[in-house]
Amino acid sequence: MKKAIVLCAGRGTRLRPLTFTTAKHLIPIANKPILFYSLESIARAGIEEVGIVVNPFNKEEFRKIIGNGESFGLKITYIVQEEPKGLAHAVLVSKGFLGDDDFLMYLGDNLILEDLSKFLRDFEQSDYAASILLSPVKDPTRFGVAVMDGDRVLKVVEKPKVPPSNLAIVGLYLFRNKIFEGIENIKPSWRGELEITDAIEYLIEKGEKVKGYIIYGWWKDTGKPDDLLEANRKILMQINEEILGSVDEKSDIQGTVMIGKATRIVNSVIRGPVVVGENCFIKDTYIGPYTSVGNNVILEDCELENSIVMDDCSIIGIEKRVDSSILGKGVSVRSSKKRPTSLNLILGDMSRVEF
Ligand code: DAU
Repeated sequence: MKKAIVLCAGRGTRLRPLTFTTAKHLIPIANKPILFYSLESIARAGIEEVGIVVNPFNKEEFRKIIGNGESFGLKITYIVQEEPKGLAHAVLVSKGFLGDDDFLMYLGDNLILEDLSKFLRDFEQSDYAASILLSPVKDPTRFGVAVMDGDRVLKVVEKPKVPPSNLAIVGLYLFRNKIFEGIENIKPSWRGELEITDAIEYLIEKGEKVKGYIIYGWWKDTGKPDDLLEANRKILMQINEEILGSVDEKSDIQGTVMIGKATRIVNSVIRGPVVVGENCFIKDTYIGPYTSVGNNVILEDCELENSIVMDDCSIIGIEKRVDSSILGKGVSVRSSKKRPTSLNLILGDMSRVEF
């Protein structure tokens, strides 16, 4: 199999305000955009050409950050879906790119740590019309759900009120071009979308074979802020130590920590797993486990833990520990001694502050 499409045209409303300026697929996890992990995994599985399905508003951002895919060893094409009318609709608009070839479909907001090679190889050697990745979950109502017999899928249903099993459809699918027949024969669902789940169900009802491939490892649909923090923790657990910046003798680096070029650490404690980007200045500060700090960040006289701080932020003179927080690019948080004492807030639309 040589082709994949990665779906990134959704609006990411549950991650506002972060997604007002950044597509959710490009939010950094351990200082690397979520989508990079999927593109690396797709390239490792031997795929050569990837179509990234984008919307008219986020297209340029993807193009700027990912380019033609050369750095991933991939040839990347951008496919514009004018409106997010559903996953099956995204496949339809990719028809020109896909032609009649078999293909892998990856939902761009999913982070799947599983190696994909075996999943692909098994499908290539089979006569199945589709193969879907499944995983047991506690709350199947949030997902597409499958009923299985052996490794064959008997039924799939999208976000059922009463789930027929606990096997959720993970955002990774393998299709032969028969899927287009399914898509042409379905109608928009209650949420007004052309559901890929319905197209798969159509094929099953026509007697086509669909394979279910259950994974028990970690994966995440990164739709909400807590999901981002969990994904960040998971990826940070796998980092290797690398200290490129400078650490003065009064500082203490504990556990696995990555510190980027030209970053200075002064009189601070960093307890890994932690990644700090390039060109940061960190003074009189504690950075606790599961924290990612981007590039050009200033942290002074503060404590930070289990958080994601993106590029160009500053946190200065904050008494309470900043915990389980996500700061978008260029955010400034500081205390002031000026009287009268008050909270001075300039917050963009849909920001959230908790005291
Ligand atoms: O995360 C797994 C689940 O993903 C599956 O269990 C469900 O069966 C499947 O329908 C899907 O459900 P979601 O409601 O989570 O899908 P969402 O709308 O979040 O879209 C997933 C990705 O696809 C996201 O990166 C945005 C992109 N997308 C979405 C739509 C609706 C598009 O590119 N175009 C679209 O029209």
